Amino acid sequence: MRHSTLFSLMAVAISVAGAASNVDPFEQWHKPEAGHVRGPCPFLNTFANHGFLPRTGKYITKQNLADGLFKSVNFDANISAFLFDFAASTNPEPNSTWFSLDHLTRHNVLEHDASLSRVDAFHGHADLFNEAAFAETLSYYGDTVDVKGGAAAIVARMKSCKATNPTYSLSDLGEAFIIGETAAFISILGDAESITAPKKLVEYLFRNERLPTELGWKRPESAFTTELLLHNLETVEAEYRKQLNATSQARKRSGGFADRLLFARQGLTA
Ligand code: HEM
Ligand SMILES: [Mg+2]
Repeated sequence: MRHSTLFSLMAVAISVAGAASNVDPFEQWHKPEAGHVRGPCPFLNTFANHGFLPRTGKYITKQNLADGLFKSVNFDANISAFLFDFAASTNPEPNSTWFSLDHLTRHNVLEHDASLSRVDAFHGHADLFNEAAFAETLSYYGDTVDVKGGAAAIVARMKSCKATNPTYSLSDLGEAFIIGETAAFISILGDAESITAPKKLVEYLFRNERLPTELGWKRPESAFTTELLLHNLETVEAEYRKQLNATSQARKRSGGFADRLLFARQGLTA
């Protein structure tokens, strides 16, 4: 091969490699392919669809999770480690160092009844988006999803799932997760300080399992931490308890949900 041809081939290779490294990962959204797995968490599914987590949805390690959650939504390493221990507990293999997104679907490990966008396991796939369930949720949100609307949707979903599912149940951990999920998604899609998020961003992410950059969402500038998650969870919990009392369905349990999560996590790492 002549030198000039070799040089031009090398130049093309270098420019292709350069272009690939300049590609904005937020724009690299692809539907899962055959053989890929997804689960009941709209956010983790989203991160896999963007390639922030392995696109296969399989064999996600602590490091994969830390990198992925940092690059996508600015989670610090501690909160990723905190969440990883819960995630790994769903792998049927004990003491596993990885999990796959479909492990999260195992009913009543973390996956629970009364989801915002999924039917109860009794009724069908607890990991697939369900229009009717989500429509009920959305009907409790104003144009801005806030703590009040977030708690009202949870209480409503619990009430209707209880009424239609003879096997309905919710563990202490499931209840703490429900509140944590709402606290987390509002904080990440909107403002973690005021705990508000535009409903259109929430709707977009849940429906498309895609980060709503085309609607103007940007990766949060400040890091999201375990402390912030637990703080916002406590705010949503207080509103949730208030609304449960108002609808006279109060559950008499001791201890806050933040403590429940911390305690449960201790058990996982003991
Ligand atoms: C390793 C990290 C994570 C794990 C292990 C995890 C796990 C789960 C699981 C098991 C569910 C199913 C619960 C159900 O039955 O509804 C779920 C749902 C959910 N997750 Fe995640 N998740 C993680 C990260 C996140 C993040 C970062 C966010 C948001 C910022 C998030 C937001 C949600 C929301 C809003 C739901 C509720 C979906 C619904 O009720 O329809 N999750 N997650
Ligand atoms: Mg569920």
